[in-house]
Amino acid sequence: MAEIEVAAVDELPPGSMRLVPAGDRVVGVYNCAGSLYAIEDRCSHDDGPLCEGDWEPDLCVVVCPRHGSRFDLETGIPMTLPAFAPVRTFPVSVRDGMIVVEVEE
Ligand code: FES
Repeated sequence: MAEIEVAAVDELPPGSMRLVPAGDRVVGVYNCAGSLYAIEDRCSHDDGPLCEGDWEPDLCVVVCPRHGSRFDLETGIPMTLPAFAPVRTFPVSVRDGMIVVEVEE
């Protein structure tokens, strides 16, 4: 398990996101109305760059830019086809004012 420092809490306000490298993965970290979520930047459908597309801060949903599947940011579960498998999500916490994501190596 690797702990990756993402940013200071005040650098990721509600409605913003940040891509962070985490070993051989890239993870998107989102502040959705004050709740922090981390999801792998790789769509379960066809390895699309999931976090490089749009997201919906009011619903905590990310939309794959390749074929448009929508995923719940909290669980990684797809809400629309063509994806049907979940995307990996990771625990996020705040320690001493820093956002930290725990990623399995
Ligand atoms: S690669 Fe994401 S929906 Fe196809």
